Parts: sequence; structure tokens; C-alpha cells
Amino acid sequence: MKRKRQRIFLAAGALLAAVALVVVWMNKNRSQMEKSEIIKIGVLIYKEDDTFVSGIVEEMKRQFKDYERENGSRIRLDFSYAEENQSIQNEQIDKYLSLDYDVLCVNLVDRTEAAIVIEKAKAADVPVVFFNREPVAEDLQQWDRLYYVGSDAKESGTLEGLLVADYYQKYPEQLDRNQDGVIQYVLLEGESRHQDSLIRTEYSIQTLVEEGFSLERLDGGIANWVRSQGEALTTQWLREYGSEIELIISNNDDMALGAIDAVENWHVKFSNIVGIDGTPEGLAAVEAGKMIGTIVAGQEEYARVILDLAERMARREALDGLAIREDKSIRVPMYSINSDGEIRRLEEEGNERN
Ligand code: BGC
Repeated sequence: MKRKRQRIFLAAGALLAAVALVVVWMNKNRSQMEKSEIIKIGVLIYKEDDTFVSGIVEEMKRQFKDYERENGSRIRLDFSYAEENQSIQNEQIDKYLSLDYDVLCVNLVDRTEAAIVIEKAKAADVPVVFFNREPVAEDLQQWDRLYYVGSDAKESGTLEGLLVADYYQKYPEQLDRNQDGVIQYVLLEGESRHQDSLIRTEYSIQTLVEEGFSLERLDGGIANWVRSQGEALTTQWLREYGSEIELIISNNDDMALGAIDAVENWHVKFSNIVGIDGTPEGLAAVEAGKMIGTIVAGQEEYARVILDLAERMARREALDGLAIREDKSIRVPMYSINSDGEIRRLEEEGNERN
């Protein structure tokens, strides 16, 4: 009798242990499944041939390949281009949502049209990482699964002004070529509806004024970030103002490269040109002494932050460690580099200018 009871106890114990083992195994398996679940990321770009944005896209593809090599196929990444048409982009968003994508990374065509995108994404409970083309502040506050990744336009404009100021410290006669104590300049602007155009223009000039420069704006115009348009405008100004021009300030590198094209076609020796972006061609022009300098908004870091944020949001993971500001943006750090290879960062100066 005693033996029989012992056997029953033993059998019950073994059964319990087996059940416990199965539960542990199932839990482990479930958490592994959750981790290895493939997430689908849709990336929507405003147009195909923007040099700076293409640099970010190339970086995303490169980092994605590295990631796959290390982690296996845990992410699917697809790109769509909107031919500068917000309706086309909206249709592309509908397509991704109908295909159950887990997160969207959106480089808006029209930054004032973010509300439509947000409405669609929210209805489908799909988070959005906007990048480079910044939605207006109120739109970003509409839902807690929206963020913006971009550089700080104020910081880039300030750094651009400082590039010129530093250059003057070293080579005053090369900048104030007619020695009248005033810098005569022309200004190439990006798209009028883009947040970076207005703010970069404002802060590059304001910084120069704060640094004690007297300035005279000879002319300025919108070249929509595009090299050929930058060249066309600069050619017009060279024809009109010739050697009166002492400085060409550009909102980005591509338009600055257009200015260089114009200067070279005009057969004049002139390199008082500043840009922003730090694209490979922009940096090469700086190194070759064809420009005073540029502001590098690291495309590698841009891509890293976008992908990291997108994956974490899709997997509903915590966002700690990401420098998210109160306005729900993450700002990619930038620095200036001049043709002497000198680098300047605002955060090292305690950000007192920001
Ligand atoms: C860049 C430009 C680019 C534009 C596109 C800006 O931040 O400086 O080069 O064309 O973004 O949205």
C-alpha cells in the first residue's frame, strides 16, 4: 500500500515536471517567434533624383544589408518614389497599408499635407517616421506614434554663416575683394515650401550680421535645390553683377555646385561659395578649393536613426537612448568643414548659439 502511494506520487511529480518543461519550452519559442517575426518597412521618397535624399536612401540600403548579414531576414525594406506629387505619394501609402506594412518612413512631397498621411496611418495603427521634409508642429502632435528625423535648419544656417566669418578672419582680402568693408552677396535658395530654405537663409545672414559684418544683398533666387537651376541663376547674376559679387551663399551643396559650374563656364577665378549637406561631390569641391566649405549633415547617421526608430516602433519596443526632443523630433548632428580641412561643431561650443 505504502509502495503504491509512493509510485503515484512519483508519477504525479514526473507529470508536473513534464508539464513545466513544456510550458517553459512554449514560452521560449513564443518569445523567439516574436523576436524573429519579419517586419515590413515602407519608405516613401518625394522624388528619385534629389542628391541628398538619394544619399540617405543608399545608406539605408547599405545598412540594411549589413543588418541582414548579422541578423538574418528580420526586416523587409521597400522604397517608392512620388515624382514630386503628393497625390501619388498618398496612393503609395494606401498600397503599403493595404499590404499590412508595419511602419512607414515618409519623406513628404508637401510638408503641409502631412495630416492626410497621418489620418491614414492612424486608422491602420501603423506608426510613421517622417524625415527630411518636416511636418508642421501641430501635425506631429496628432498621434503618439509619429516622429520626425532631420537636421536642425537653424544650426546649419548658423554654421554656414560661421564658415564665412572664419574664412574672413584668415583671408580678409579674398572675401572683401573691393575692400569697401561690405560683403556683396547673392543667395541661392531651396524650394520655397521647404522648412530648410527659409531658416537656413535667415540664420546664415543673421550669424554674419552678429559676427559684425556689413552685408549687401545684390540678388537672390529660388533654385529648388537643383544644380542646373543654381547654375542658371548664377550665370544670370555673373552677367548682371560680374566681379561685384564677393560671396555666393547656397542653401545646399547641389545649387553651390551649380554656381561652381557657372563660374567655370564664365572663366573667372572665384571660390567664395558656401553650401550645406556634405554630399560626396560637395565635399570633393571643398577639398579641391572650389568652395569655402560646407556643412555636413551625416547621411549615414540620418539613415541609422530612421531605421532604428522605425524598427523599434514596428516591434513596439522602448525608444530609450534615442535623443527625442520635446517636439517629437530627432536632430541629426552636423558640423562644418572648410577647404583647409578644419571642422567646427556647435554643440562643442555649448550650443549657446542654438
Ligand atoms: C537638403 C537638400 C535636399 C532637400 C530635399 C534639404 O535638407 O539640404 O539638399 O534637396 O533637403 O528635401
